[in-house]
Amino acid sequence: MRRRHSDYMLWAKTQGRARFNLATSGVGSFPLNELPVSIEQLKIDGDSTYGYAPLQRAIAKKCGVDPDCVVAAAGTSMANHLAMAMLIGPGDEVLIEQPTYELLTSTLLYLGAAVKHFARTEESGFALDPAQVRRVITRKTKLIVLTNLHNPSSVLASETTLREIGGLARSVGAHVLVDEVYLDAVYTDTPKPSYHLGSEFVVTSSLTKVYGLSGLRCGWILAEPDLARAMWRLNDLFASIPAHPAELLSVVVFENLDHIRERARKIVEADRAQLQEFLSSQQGVSSPRTDFGTTAILRLAHGSIDDFLTRLRTEYETSVVPGKFFGLPNHFRIGMGVDSEMFREGLQRIGRALKTV
Ligand SMILES: Cc1ncc(COP(=O)(O)O)c(C=O)c1O
Repeated sequence: MRRRHSDYMLWAKTQGRARFNLATSGVGSFPLNELPVSIEQLKIDGDSTYGYAPLQRAIAKKCGVDPDCVVAAAGTSMANHLAMAMLIGPGDEVLIEQPTYELLTSTLLYLGAAVKHFARTEESGFALDPAQVRRVITRKTKLIVLTNLHNPSSVLASETTLREIGGLARSVGAHVLVDEVYLDAVYTDTPKPSYHLGSEFVVTSSLTKVYGLSGLRCGWILAEPDLARAMWRLNDLFASIPAHPAELLSVVVFENLDHIRERARKIVEADRAQLQEFLSSQQGVSSPRTDFGTTAILRLAHGSIDDFLTRLRTEYETSVVPGKFFGLPNHFRIGMGVDSEMFREGLQRIGRALKTV
C-alpha cells in the first residue's frame, strides 16, 4: 500500500503548539522588516524558467558548485520529494537511517520504495556508522538516505564516515541522498555540502531551519548536471512555476546570509547552554551531548511517556515532539533557537513534570 499521508505532519500542524512550544525544529522567524529590501524591488512575475538565474547563482556560490548543479525547490521538503522521485521508482530498494525524520520515510513509501533501515543506535549516541549500512546493502540497493545534522539528535557525521558510505553506494551503483537542512547550524568550520564528496552524492537543503526563513520556501538540490536537468523536467509535473517575489527576496537574503545566521546563532547557543545545564542536573532524562544543531532527543528514564507528555501539555502548557514519530517511543524531541525565555521556562516545566513521573 502506498503511503498517502504523514502522521507526524498532521500532529505538527494540529497539536504541535503550546504556550511553551519546544516542539520546534528551526530557529525563530527572521523579521521581514529587517531585510534590506523595499516593495519597489519586488515583482509579481519574472524571468524564472528552469530556475531564476540570480538565485541559481547565489545558491551555487554559497554551496561552491556550478549553477548547473542546482535545482531550486520549495523548501527541503519539496527538494527531498523531487530528488527521491527522480532517483527511485516503485519496488526499488532504499536504505534509510533509523531513527530519522518521518517525512523522508513517508515520502519513500508514497513513491513505492522497498524501504530497509540501518540503525543509528542510541548506545553509539546515534552515530552514523558505515558498518550498519554494510549489514543491509545489497546489489539491488538504489538509494541510501540520511540526515546531517541528524534529525532528531543533531549528531554530526564526519567526512570520513560519509566518504565510506559513498564508497558502499558506488560499489552497487546507488546514490546517497543527504538532507543537510541543519548543517549550517555547525557554526565553526561549517562542513561543505557532501555533494563535493563524489558523484554518488545528492544533497538537499534550504534557508528554512537555520536562518529562520521558512516562509520563503527557498530550498535546493545539488546533483550532477545531467541529473539536475532531469530533475528540473520532473519538477514541471509538480511545482512548475515558483513564487517570484520569494525568489527576489531570497536573492537579497543570500547577500546578507552571514548576518542572518549570526543573529540566530546567539539564540541557539544560549539555548544549548541552558540545555546542557538542564541535562547535567536531571536524573529523569538522558541525551547525547551535541555541540551544534537546533534539536535534541531526550530519553525518559522511567515512567510512562504517554502520561508524561499528556501532563506536560495539560498541566505545564509545554509541547515537545513525541519520540514515536522517530521510532523512539520512550523519547521526546525539543527544539532550540526560537526564544530563550520561552526555552528556559519550557525546560523548567519539563523539570517539574519529571519530578512527579
Ligand atoms: C530533516 C528535515 N528535512 C526537511 C525538513 C523540512 O524542511 P523545509 O522547511 O526546508 O521544507 C525538516 C523539517 O523539520 C527536517 O527536519
